[in-house]
Amino acid sequence: MKILVIGGGGREHTLAWKIAHDSTQPEVFCAPGNAGTAAVATNVPIGAEDVDGLTAWAVENRPDLVVVGPEVPLCDGITDRLEAEGLRVFGPSASAARMEGSKEFCKDVMLAAGVPTAASETFSGKEGALAYVREQGAPIVIKADGLAAGKGVYVCMSEAEAEAALEEICMERRYGDAGNRIVVEEFLEGEEASILALVDGENILMLSSSQDHKRVFNGDQGPNTGGMGAYSPAPVVTDALWPVIHDYVLRPTVDELKRRGIVYKGVLYAGLMMTADGPKVLEYNCRFGDPETQVVLPRIDGDLLPLFQACVDGTLSDDLLQWKNEACVCVVMASGGYPGSYEKGKAITGLADASALPGVVVFHAGTTEQEGQTVTSGGRVLGVTALGTTLPDAVRQAYIAISKITFDQAQYRTDIAARALNRDS
Ligand code: AMP
Ligand code: GLY
Repeated sequence: MKILVIGGGGREHTLAWKIAHDSTQPEVFCAPGNAGTAAVATNVPIGAEDVDGLTAWAVENRPDLVVVGPEVPLCDGITDRLEAEGLRVFGPSASAARMEGSKEFCKDVMLAAGVPTAASETFSGKEGALAYVREQGAPIVIKADGLAAGKGVYVCMSEAEAEAALEEICMERRYGDAGNRIVVEEFLEGEEASILALVDGENILMLSSSQDHKRVFNGDQGPNTGGMGAYSPAPVVTDALWPVIHDYVLRPTVDELKRRGIVYKGVLYAGLMMTADGPKVLEYNCRFGDPETQVVLPRIDGDLLPLFQACVDGTLSDDLLQWKNEACVCVVMASGGYPGSYEKGKAITGLADASALPGVVVFHAGTTEQEGQTVTSGGRVLGVTALGTTLPDAVRQAYIAISKITFDQAQYRTDIAARALNRDS
């Protein structure tokens, strides 16, 4: 069996790694992949956003399944294009991916479905938005409507900050057309968690919970990043919350989409705030989370492909999924300066030593091969991941692995999973 994974980050290395270990021993391709995916798959030098190029490759090479990692090709309709060519795709259609592609659309669906989320209003310019900010007062949250590569969200503690955010989005047009419309929403307080759910158009299978660490520095300080680390399971998502999230968040969302003629197939990622009033949706994404994937997939006991195939076929069921009785932690090693500007091409050492440790997998994100040497090529470089019998074991093992790896100006947080560890003690 031939599988094509689209993307080249830590999430895609994790997907390719898990699929390559499937009991059916599939042949895995990854476009464009990175130095890590090259060890478990054949890299295909086509960018993840090159929908024409990827479609042409898939038509010629006829993979049995295409697994799409990032949101941009999904929102650009890669699933629709490939399906029109008779190919099987794990990932939502463009109309379903709008749940991530337009925050206004997502809010509209949630409102119609009665899904708990922050109260909000949408505006098409600075003036109206600012008047609403003045009416509501701070703290308040400003979001560009469209895709902004994980940026475009401003949590504003004062009206002045909100005004500056609106200036950036509407006047400086920092996100281009993604900022044509602006969602202004209520500030929610609580602890965040991610739920990745598989959806086959009708059935919903929630994967185990996880928690991302979005800020660059320890103690959730500094600017937002793509994610500096994660762990799974996240104890903030208690057993009691499980049916609440299924029945009051995911189920009505999928049903409301269906009412609108949109069949959701793929991963539906709910970014949740656990408020005093229960879980509320901060955002929906149309794909696996990064780095949440790095901590959720290694915990799956058994094959991933049958789950993806069942999503395509509409035959998803609980018995396809078993969990290892282990916790998993991923610590991201990033380039110095990230999420701002950073240098590339730094030689990485110690990868083999780290990977040889029990329970450790080093997922690559921004890496490439240069003259036989693995070097940095992005902001987030590695996701150093460890399974452990307990969460503290997994944390310890991940940081032992980190101690083996070096590259010039490497930075990482030393407090990944601290919230969960403090909760336990
Ligand atoms: P998003 O990309 O929508 O998940 O937003 C990025 C981050 O901004 C989230 O992970 C939260 O930490 C924060 N955030 C987004 N919306 C809100 C909100 N309504 N209240 C408080 N924080 C929020
Ligand atoms: N970890 C956040 C995201 O994937 O959007």
